[in-house]
Amino acid sequence: MDLIVARNRTDLIKARGAGTIALVPTMGALHEGHRSLVRAARTHADQVVVSIFVNPLQFGPNEDLSRYPRTFDADLEVCQEEGAAVVFAPAVEDMYPPGRQVSVRAGEMGRIVEGASRPGHFDGMLTVVLKLFNLVRPDVAVFGQKDAQQLAMIRRMVADLDVPVEIVGAPTVREPDGLALSSRNRYLSAEDRQVALALSRALRAGAAERAPARIRAAAREVLDAATPELELDYLALVDPATFGDVPESYTGEAVLAVAARIGATRLIDNMVITLG
Ligand code: PAJ
Repeated sequence: MDLIVARNRTDLIKARGAGTIALVPTMGALHEGHRSLVRAARTHADQVVVSIFVNPLQFGPNEDLSRYPRTFDADLEVCQEEGAAVVFAPAVEDMYPPGRQVSVRAGEMGRIVEGASRPGHFDGMLTVVLKLFNLVRPDVAVFGQKDAQQLAMIRRMVADLDVPVEIVGAPTVREPDGLALSSRNRYLSAEDRQVALALSRALRAGAAERAPARIRAAAREVLDAATPELELDYLALVDPATFGDVPESYTGEAVLAVAARIGATRLIDNMVITLG
């Protein structure tokens, strides 16, 4: 079946099929991680809609909005190959017409961990995701565990605002050497890329331990060894639902999350560790 490309909301409405819809929201520059989400989405609904929209609202003033990679033609090929039915790729003016006032606020959870480093990011992200839900009206939406706090915030929004969509999380796709796939990896030089491997190495070192203090220390040690080429932003062992720090007595699944800058590129990664 031929891929339908909807460039605005009118085209999107025309492209809607009769069956169930699974939505995969993306900012384009699609890689194997995004492909895995489309494949997962196909198992959940009759039709997969992939949105491609670089959302200015979720970028801070000193972030990489203007240089964010844009590979639209290659992205369409990926969507076609993976069996998506529709690509929704609106213009910024179509998503945000003048006069906009109302938006989603992420609350306290949007100001911790990743949110502490990126003020306003989760507000902007949730606002566009809610708009995409309202435009596409999917039965299911698929998000990567790679952005664990994003996934937790979307689940929170869906619960708090009674959004009628089922949220599915999909595992992080990695390079054979452990580097989590990211659209931002293409910014890395060969040397940067070697340094970046410390992120996944640190997470594996942490995951080999059983108690919170030891997990944090083991991961920290790997990251310290990679400085100053790697500039650590945060390392946190948190509750996957709230992103609050887990106490030493914690049992169950925890997320070990890391963010670091390598040269001009900021990367994030995380691993789920079961405690107790
Ligand atoms: P983007 O960074 O393009 O990511 C789109 C989706 O792909 C997200 O759900 C993300 O978690 C997932 N993803 C990225 N890398 C992955 C990997 N290595 N393995 C598995 N999944 C991966 O996240 C966003 O866009 C935006 O914030 C968005 C939700 C589209 C809102 O603007």
